[in-house]
Amino acid sequence: MTPQSDQPEDISQQLEQLRQEARQRAEIDAALNRLFAPEDDALQLALTAEHDAEMPAIQISPLQGRLLQVLAIACGARKILEIGALAGYSGIWLARALPSGGRLISLEVSEKHAAVARASLERAGLSDRAEVRLGSALEILPTLTNEAPFDLVFIDADKPPYPTYLDWALKLTRPGSIIVADNCIRGGKPLRVPVEDDPATRGLSEYDHRVSTDPRLVSVAFPMDDNGMDGFAISVVRAGASEGTA
Ligand code: DHB
Ligand code: MG
Repeated sequence: MTPQSDQPEDISQQLEQLRQEARQRAEIDAALNRLFAPEDDALQLALTAEHDAEMPAIQISPLQGRLLQVLAIACGARKILEIGALAGYSGIWLARALPSGGRLISLEVSEKHAAVARASLERAGLSDRAEVRLGSALEILPTLTNEAPFDLVFIDADKPPYPTYLDWALKLTRPGSIIVADNCIRGGKPLRVPVEDDPATRGLSEYDHRVSTDPRLVSVAFPMDDNGMDGFAISVVRAGASEGTA
């Protein structure tokens, strides 16, 4: 027999508790955003431009932007590669973590998105250090070998080729570089076994599996978007695959 939780008064108590927890999570999220990741005009204008251009509002959260900055600064990033510019919102966070003389190269397949991203970076005063290259990432990546190594690679583009983006990220980085990929949790879909048979979920699942087991990487992923359903996979490129364990 199920315990009293089937009783109507208990169900309403449980509902009230869930509501209370949801309010508390929203309050914590708002406070952390205010404290660690306030958006200035340039970031907000990037979101307005994204909306005005009828682009999907699928950019990273402010705290994720701040996390990218923490990671970029932790690895002394002077050269950053972004795969998928969208409206330039994450590009602003990334480029702001660069020292003077640093460089962000952001790859974008959509002409419209690239134009919006360039305008957002320009408004943020970052055109001297941030560049959007238009075209298919799978075609541009092989042309970047003479600009490598990149200190940080941020992957946030179409999901089916994530494993191929990882291959390129590994080719274009150095020991100590950081590789970050967005959407590696996606409501748990890519973590299920067996994995659902759609190309995006398969791409993300293979990415998660590879970064969690590749001896060249030390990786972690945890939920970090505003409703705890998605997040980055974060990987550090090891000095040598045979050197100890983290
Ligand atoms: C989608 C893509 C993203 O990069 C994201 O962060 C959220 C959603 C999408 O294609 O649906
Ligand atoms: Mg994303």
